[in-house]
Amino acid sequence: GERQETAQAGDAVAIAIADPVDIGRGDLLVPPDARPHVYDMFAAHLVWMADTELLPGRPYLMKIGTRMLTANVTSIKHRIGIATLDRLAARTLALNEIGVCNLATAAPVAFDSFEENQATGSFILIDRFSNATLAAGTIDFSLRRGENVHLQPLDVSARVRASLKGQRPAILWFTGLSGAGKSTIANRLEARLAALGHHSYLLDGDNIRSGLNKDLGFTDHDRVENIRRVGEVAKLFVDAGVIVLCSFISPFRSERAAIRNRVGPGEFLEILVDAPLEVCEARDPKGLYAKSRSGKLPNFTGIDSPYERPENPELVLDAVSMTADELAERVLAYLSTHGYFESPHGPS
Ligand code: ADX
Repeated sequence: GERQETAQAGDAVAIAIADPVDIGRGDLLVPPDARPHVYDMFAAHLVWMADTELLPGRPYLMKIGTRMLTANVTSIKHRIGIATLDRLAARTLALNEIGVCNLATAAPVAFDSFEENQATGSFILIDRFSNATLAAGTIDFSLRRGENVHLQPLDVSARVRASLKGQRPAILWFTGLSGAGKSTIANRLEARLAALGHHSYLLDGDNIRSGLNKDLGFTDHDRVENIRRVGEVAKLFVDAGVIVLCSFISPFRSERAAIRNRVGPGEFLEILVDAPLEVCEARDPKGLYAKSRSGKLPNFTGIDSPYERPENPELVLDAVSMTADELAERVLAYLSTHGYFESPHGPS
């Protein structure tokens, strides 16, 4: 073709680059005097366009320019009253609501403020499972507060910590309805692990909610944050070389998948403690189903709050016809046959 000196928006161009640089889809070529921000946090106006509410902390797909990556809303600063343009307090956004939010992306991304550049200053959020468009956003400014935070390199690696303990660490994630038996099974399993000389720790919903997550209740919003925090803590235990047992209802597929994606292959084992609602309700060990049925406990899982069954769990435990001890043995056998009790070999 013929050599062009200029091109404009909408033109398709082929370019030759003099220096050997690694560029790919989603990268930007910019003049040196108009550099975008390259960062992983910014403030934005968001128009929520979905029937399901915005849940801060939940991972969504963000399409920004030609780039697609995971992002989440870290906080909603306020909602804008459409009629009055007032700033209103908000914990979520519903259909057609507009909010001013802080967002974080999984990796640094090049962007400008919408004021500076409408193309590189706008984005959409997409549901990771249904691919539906959830929101449209315009970027207000880069949030620079993380710029002075630098990951500290550590000499002792996760592998060294694991091999000192002679095991392959993992998150054993017990999910299921209240009363299914998650905590009982996890408790028995931890006793067996200890007896065999393995290093473990048990994170249990009711216990964590009396400390770290004392500020959280049982709305969808709070459950998402509950599981997000627990996932981060569990990831630290894996880094420490520990087999960490987590017993949480964790009703949403999205938050369980988010933890799986935060750790390496084989480090997240999803274990469904399977008992039908009728059985759990008949057991009602804490009297919570009765309370919920009488209207004294709102948002109770299985009654007026959803539970999304895992689609591909590593293990399904039949908590109706088998005892907690038998089920703990099943998990132990799985760990043993899949090499979790062998020391990871090799350097660093
Ligand atoms: S989760 O949904 O956010 O994962 P989590 O496992 O931490 O829940 O806590 C569940 C425990 O909280 C239950 O075992 C029960 O004892 C207690 N609880 C209190 N209120 C509720 C409620 N509305 N729904 C479910 N569990 C509740």
